[in-house]
Amino acid sequence: MTTASAPGKIILFGEHAVVYGRPAVATAIDKRIYVETDFTEKSPYESSYISSIKDSQSYSSKKGIIIQYYDKSRLSYTKNDITSGQEHDVYKSEIRDERPTFYQSNKYLQESVDIVLKKAEMMGNTEIKDCVLKIVTKSELPISSGLGSSGALCVALIKSLSSLFGLDLDNKEIAQMGWEIERNVQGFASGIDPFVSTYGGIIHYNNGCFDRIDIDDQIDLNFLIIHSGKNSSTKDMVKRVAELKTRFPNTVNKIFDAIGVVTEEAVDILYNLIKGKPSKRSSKLEHLQLLGSLLCINQGLLESLGVSTLELSNLFYRSLRYGALGAKLTGSGGGGCLISLYPPSTDMATIFEDYTTLKCRISPNGVMIEK
Ligand code: MEV
Repeated sequence: MTTASAPGKIILFGEHAVVYGRPAVATAIDKRIYVETDFTEKSPYESSYISSIKDSQSYSSKKGIIIQYYDKSRLSYTKNDITSGQEHDVYKSEIRDERPTFYQSNKYLQESVDIVLKKAEMMGNTEIKDCVLKIVTKSELPISSGLGSSGALCVALIKSLSSLFGLDLDNKEIAQMGWEIERNVQGFASGIDPFVSTYGGIIHYNNGCFDRIDIDDQIDLNFLIIHSGKNSSTKDMVKRVAELKTRFPNTVNKIFDAIGVVTEEAVDILYNLIKGKPSKRSSKLEHLQLLGSLLCINQGLLESLGVSTLELSNLFYRSLRYGALGAKLTGSGGGGCLISLYPPSTDMATIFEDYTTLKCRISPNGVMIEK
């Protein structure tokens, strides 16, 4: 048995435009998906076994290997303000949209299994033929919320299975496989999610190439993640933007360009903040204010692409009203989460009492084997 885990992510700047070759910057967070894989003798169709496991699914992969899939990620529910350290208690049950998201995540799971099996076959591993696999996933991340749960699932599953099969896949291969899976499921995908889940830390990304911005302990980016209460599908939102681009190619390309410029300006500020470079024009708070303004500009540009929602826009204005330096939706939009940047040491606990919030920290850790 092996267990691997991979982090979720927040895109700080550049979503959607990144699918069309513009830069983006994203960070891994300290909420992870854990994937345990094992060989098992049990038949997945054995009813006593299945009925003892709520939410269990099984299917035959293209290779004829039978997979048992047990997803615990949606079993628990806490009130808002989830702090790190709480296991698996991620979000309120009302924000679930179970069936579509379940099948969507299952598709990522199937593609991940198939890609690793194909690799094992290419490497001459015949032991896995006709085996029965058991896969158990546990998540600290809400699904379909813009926090990279699908990318993290793929990456953790690839790592776990490759270790179970004795394949020695490096991070480069794992990230590339994750990207291929996203393209298969979504149609278009930039690859940023699986890359961040694989490598961890803050990543300045462009088309499969990236710089990892080393995080030092001093960085104090006080982000609050607020769930809009509605789930969304990355595939649908990416498709919607593609359609807008087909209708108005010149306009939409200019919006992508503007998002790219905002991202590069934000990266400069982040480097200054992280490396603590002296700058004559600004103190740390001034840097954070600049970053906040760029978040707001990015939100405006995402609005113009039609990927914000009434709930997200309301949360955006409410954040600013209650002292945020800036805010924007994160991920594909159409629902999911807003990120809101506050001055250091602001107590944000009471601002969004009526919403599910996720308090998390930027994390340097990427994919890893747990045991
Ligand atoms: C999804 O987390 C980010 C998008 O830019 C899609 C992608 O980059 O593949 C919307």
